Amino acid sequence: MKWRALLFVSATTAFCLGLGAAIPEQSLREAAQGSALLIGTAVRPAQLSEPAYASTLAREFNMLEPEDALKWEVVHPEPQSFDFSQGDQIVDFAARHDMKIRGHTLVWHRQNPKWLTEKKYTSAELAEILEKHIKTVVGHYRGKIFAWDVVNEAFDELHPGTLRSTIWRDQPGIGTTEDTAASYELRATDNSVRSKLAARGSQQGYIEQCFRWTHQADPQALLFYNEAEAEVLNPKSDAIYAMVRDFRQRGVPIDGVGFQMHVANLHADVASISANIKRFTALGVQVHITEMDVALPLDASANPRAEDLQKQADVYRQIATACLSHPGCTAIQTWGFTDKYSWIGSHSKQTQGAALPFDRNYRCKPAYEGLRSALESGRR
Ligand code: G3I
Repeated sequence: MKWRALLFVSATTAFCLGLGAAIPEQSLREAAQGSALLIGTAVRPAQLSEPAYASTLAREFNMLEPEDALKWEVVHPEPQSFDFSQGDQIVDFAARHDMKIRGHTLVWHRQNPKWLTEKKYTSAELAEILEKHIKTVVGHYRGKIFAWDVVNEAFDELHPGTLRSTIWRDQPGIGTTEDTAASYELRATDNSVRSKLAARGSQQGYIEQCFRWTHQADPQALLFYNEAEAEVLNPKSDAIYAMVRDFRQRGVPIDGVGFQMHVANLHADVASISANIKRFTALGVQVHITEMDVALPLDASANPRAEDLQKQADVYRQIATACLSHPGCTAIQTWGFTDKYSWIGSHSKQTQGAALPFDRNYRCKPAYEGLRSALESGRR
């Protein structure tokens, strides 16, 4: 028995050290099978023609998500034209490798085309544009994309509990329904809260409307609200919790919440993350970890410290374990999988990076082992 374990470790370590040894016994995808957990990653279509990128992606993940290819500026570049070429490439790859596809994202305040952001529209015009966008994009991928981030990052981290100022929120009237505001008033305890909640209710109307339009476009698709910096118990996740509970009570079609999980400074409050997952899944919605990465400080030659790589592995293991301890947490997705292609570099002016399970040469890192060992341990 001992030599077999020795053989296993050596094969995996050999593989991870890129010594061209045989593929390890179990990939992330295989390790996740026992827990019926989706293990996914964000994908860039331009890299699919790179053999190491394509083979690692297909071997290790059973789900993928376009990192940028389905955002407005890419898929809806002109008022009357849609460009599905990049999205279709990714969908074709997934179909050829039996992978599920998450859609990202139908409504966001970033990566919107100039024709949308630099022209003043009435509420009715903007509502028409938004409905057409959602129904055209979701309609094109109906039956192929199983889950959508319908709305992304609508809550304002600078003003916890409030909605961010965006072209969608600031154009009152998109989908505001009498009962949206009224439903909030009912729950208010006193006038000051009453008016604040009523205001939020009316502002939130566009979110509700987008979920209704997406459901009309593909009644089978799972609909998610996706957010950053709401992974733990905090005023932002409280506001999202109130919205999701209200939507569930009023029958607004919502199936899940996406917690992005961009971990900074190697700090993750796992107990609070677990408690947050517990309360949301108790509402009857699924939780997906949608954009996980664990950024590390880089030295002058763009290398992370060895001790940080071990701490990073612990963060991946602990967060995956927290997800696996809740039946309603049904997917873990990393925001890219190789340090060769990650948003963190450009976003941090190259001071941070090395955030993902594979290094720039597609060698698996301690983070890979951390994630895989949690997956192998399965649901608790
Ligand atoms: O496509 C243009 C290309 O034509 C041009 O030559 C190039 C140079 O400027 O820019 C390319 O667009 C870039 C785009 O990614 C596609 O690569 C944009 O500049 C760049 O800003 C954009 O960055 C994306 C970022 O969202 C934008 O906000 C990242 O790739 C993407 O990883 C990141 O993802 C977001 C999630 O969607 C939501 N949660 C946070 C996460 C990280 O910001």
